[in-house]
Amino acid sequence: MKQYTHHVFVCCQERPAGEQACRGQRMRDYAKARIKALGIDGEGKCRINTAGCLGRCAEGPLLVVYPEGVWYNWVDEEDLEEIIQLHLIGNQIVERLLVPEPGEA
Ligand code: FES
Repeated sequence: MKQYTHHVFVCCQERPAGEQACRGQRMRDYAKARIKALGIDGEGKCRINTAGCLGRCAEGPLLVVYPEGVWYNWVDEEDLEEIIQLHLIGNQIVERLLVPEPGEA
């Protein structure tokens, strides 16, 4: 069994005011609370982790879901909820929030 079915890294990079950064702490906390409430957190299920800069700041705010390596751009809790419900629970990609692979238009 894999340690986690889905391992989510939320970019929580901070930078001085005016500089581009994801600042995802609030969304990380939301996602952690939601997977706990839904009973899908822990070994053999899902984990939410803090990430520093993922190197694609201009496309942020970002999170990435492994093992698929799917990158999402989120705006608010509704977006996170959709990722949780569709991807983490339903194993479906949330097309509307996808960040294009580098080189894709
Ligand atoms: S600050 Fe989030 S990708 Fe760089």
